[in-house]
Amino acid sequence: MKMVRISLWILVFAAAALMLGRYYNTGQQAPLADGPGGPFTLTAHTGETVSDTQFRGQYMLVYFGYSFCPDVCPLDLQKLSVALYQLEEEGYDTTPIQPLFITIDPERDTTDELATFVPDFHPRLLGLTGTLDQITEVARDFKVYFAKREQEGTEDYLMDHSALIFVMDPNGKYVRLFSSRDKPADIAESLKPVLEKAG
Ligand code: NI
Repeated sequence: MKMVRISLWILVFAAAALMLGRYYNTGQQAPLADGPGGPFTLTAHTGETVSDTQFRGQYMLVYFGYSFCPDVCPLDLQKLSVALYQLEEEGYDTTPIQPLFITIDPERDTTDELATFVPDFHPRLLGLTGTLDQITEVARDFKVYFAKREQEGTEDYLMDHSALIFVMDPNGKYVRLFSSRDKPADIAESLKPVLEKAG
């Protein structure tokens, strides 16, 4: 009877170990296979066609938003730009970092519209737009939420959207993200190792 109980326990432990092993294995692989990011081909505010593949070898800082945004987007883009300016003032060459602004409001954010908005932030910031299908696809790949919010009594509308800055490595793979809690100095500080490695 005792032997039976012991071998039953061994079985239970073996099964638990197997399940744990499987859990940890998928746990380690999941973020790589399933992290935010994906291929895109969009149109820049300069009129050029831009693909993610042309930034291989550079780190991409990717932010999704829209130029008509009354508050969050301009603040976040300013934050991102101030971080780059801060690094440049400290003598860092920031060209290994490519900042990208992808609109989630392609209906209003035409290339012309983006061309009046984007240069206010950083001279190397690229504003990207496309068809609604293209934007929906890239937003889905980055796991970015966006939705139109109609305003009563007006044609104007707002866009609800995730406000995150994604850092993608020179192979286009996700590294980390910055949220509204991160200050320009925090962003600058955490990008220094990236620039030291590149330079
Ligand atoms: Ni916004």
